[in-house]
Amino acid sequence: MLPPERLRYVGFSHVEADECGSLNDWLAAAPQAEPMCGSVAAMVSVNDLADRPARALADGERLDLGTHSIRWFDAPHLPHGWECGYLMHGTAGTLFCGDLFSQGGATHPPLTPSDILGPSEAFRRVMDYYAHAPQSRATLERLAAAQPVTLACMHGSAWQGDGAALLRALADALLA
Ligand SMILES: [Fe+2]
Ligand SMILES: [Fe+2]
Repeated sequence: MLPPERLRYVGFSHVEADECGSLNDWLAAAPQAEPMCGSVAAMVSVNDLADRPARALADGERLDLGTHSIRWFDAPHLPHGWECGYLMHGTAGTLFCGDLFSQGGATHPPLTPSDILGPSEAFRRVMDYYAHAPQSRATLERLAAAQPVTLACMHGSAWQGDGAALLRALADALLA
C-alpha cells in the first residue's frame, strides 16, 4: 500500500473498461503517474484516451523501478486485444496475467495452490473470451519460459506453483 501521490506508473494489460476504465481518475489522484502499457496500446488507444502520454513498453523491455524491476511481454490476442500484454515482476516471479485463468464467481481466496485451470476452463466453456490466435501457444511458451511462481489473475484467485507447467497446460487446453 502506498499513497497515490507517490505512484509513478499506472499499468495494465489491455484496453478494456475492467482493465483501465478508471485510468484518468488514477492520473488525477496521482499527479506524478504515467499510464504504462505496451507499445501497441499506446499507439492505438492510450495516447488518445489518457490525460497524460503513456510510458510505452517494448516487447521484452525491462524497467528498473528502484527496489523492484518489471518486464513487459507482448501477448497480442491472448486472450484478446491486439494490444494485450503482461507485466512480470523481475525477482518475485509474479506474472500479472490479466484475463488468463479467469475464474467465475465472487468468492475466492486471494491466493491458492489449488487447481485454477479446471475452474477457468469451465468458465471459458460458458463464455469463451479467447481470440484463439494462431500464435497463442508460442506466446504462452514465452510466458512459461520466464518461469513465474505466482500467477496474479485479474478474475479469481491468484495461484502459486509451477507457473510454466500451468501455462503449458493452458496451451494444451486451448488447442484441445
Ligand atoms: Fe479483457
Ligand atoms: Fe478482465
